[in-house]
Amino acid sequence: MSKLFIRQGWGSSRLVASPSRTLVGVSGLLPFSPRGALGLTQATFPRGQRGYSSEPNRRSPSRLQPFLYALLGGSVGLALAHYLHSPENNVIPYTHEKAHDIHDQKEQRAVNAPWKHVDYQQVYKDIANILEEGAEDYDDGSFGPVLLRLAWHSSGTYSKSDHTGGSNGATMRYAPESNHGANRGLDVARHKLEDIKKKHPAISYADLWTLGGVVSVQEMGGPQIPWRPGRADTTADNCTPDGRLPDGSLKQDHVRDVFYRMGFNDQEIVALIGAHAVGRCHAERSGFDGPWTFSPTSFTNEYFNQMLTQEWVPKKWSGPKQFVDKATGTLMMLPADLSLKEDKEFRKYVELYAKDEQKFFADFSKAFAKLLELGVEFPPDAPTYRFEPL
Ligand code: HEM
Repeated sequence: MSKLFIRQGWGSSRLVASPSRTLVGVSGLLPFSPRGALGLTQATFPRGQRGYSSEPNRRSPSRLQPFLYALLGGSVGLALAHYLHSPENNVIPYTHEKAHDIHDQKEQRAVNAPWKHVDYQQVYKDIANILEEGAEDYDDGSFGPVLLRLAWHSSGTYSKSDHTGGSNGATMRYAPESNHGANRGLDVARHKLEDIKKKHPAISYADLWTLGGVVSVQEMGGPQIPWRPGRADTTADNCTPDGRLPDGSLKQDHVRDVFYRMGFNDQEIVALIGAHAVGRCHAERSGFDGPWTFSPTSFTNEYFNQMLTQEWVPKKWSGPKQFVDKATGTLMMLPADLSLKEDKEFRKYVELYAKDEQKFFADFSKAFAKLLELGVEFPPDAPTYRFEPL
């Protein structure tokens, strides 16, 4: 009974929206009338107080009654429990994805080796194939950068002191995390990956989003990133507090605070931020504006080269403080970016990576794989995939 209810209830978005509908869903699935089960037939009312059924009572409810009470009580209890745990019914406004993650969680618990049920190579290909689909008028012609940013922001909430946050759980599906200022614009990436989720329903969102980052880096020409499956999706209760992701208007002390909290060292920090080789800032999302390099859909060490070779001047505008290259005024750097070359320790790695792209690729690959796995407890037999770019 409960299985039937859960499948019907969560498989169909029509049945999940309201408590009254939930109960309709329950009663519709009961193999008997709940009214009958409650004994609300004429025969159960004291003589002279007829119930509203005019049907003659065909059986005595007395023997069945306790059993039916228990059954109905159980069903209503289950319905209530699922109602309360539904992301859609959470008091926090739910953002966009339907409640099928609960259904998926059940599947994931049942399937403790998801790699036996998901063709990740095919998922990789399917993501690779949508990176430029419909992107003719989007930014620089690829969703790669925003997918990469989704992977990073879903993972970069990790705190090693209490093991909260990280990619496990995919909690950015829920408000308040989806509404955190740092995550503005990432709905674009989440919606894009929804098509892949539909095609491969057994993959968890947490695995899908991190794999999206891997595909994006590799398909934009970056290094191979080893990747393991095994993350599970959780509920809105596990959303992380706002303020865990870095603020572009702050400098090296803040950058260290944020990345040390996750467990990274200076060299890993510089390598990771080298991802700003791709993508751009959007005034309507972060308030900042412009790309870091002249090739924002190619994963290269250009971020470090531009940082060291251009002369950076404050942008003259009414927006937040940022820098533009003096020569063309088209590239940008955040105060946080430029702090990497101002800080003696960080600068060592900026210079190293500007000189040696292979070294940058090798270090980025290690640090990014680590980022995507922060806080995730993989089953011991989880395989590591190394995908070839298409
Ligand atoms: C101090 C650390 C960092 C700061 C302050 C920072 C800040 C920002 C800001 C303000 C944006 C612009 C968002 C927008 O307006 O759309 C951005 C974009 C981006 N960031 Fe970072 N970021 C940091 C580290 C990282 C790391 C570690 C990665 C990846 C490993 C990353 C990957 C990206 C990508 C790919 C974009 C472009 C997104 C797009 O084009 O839509 N960032 N970042």
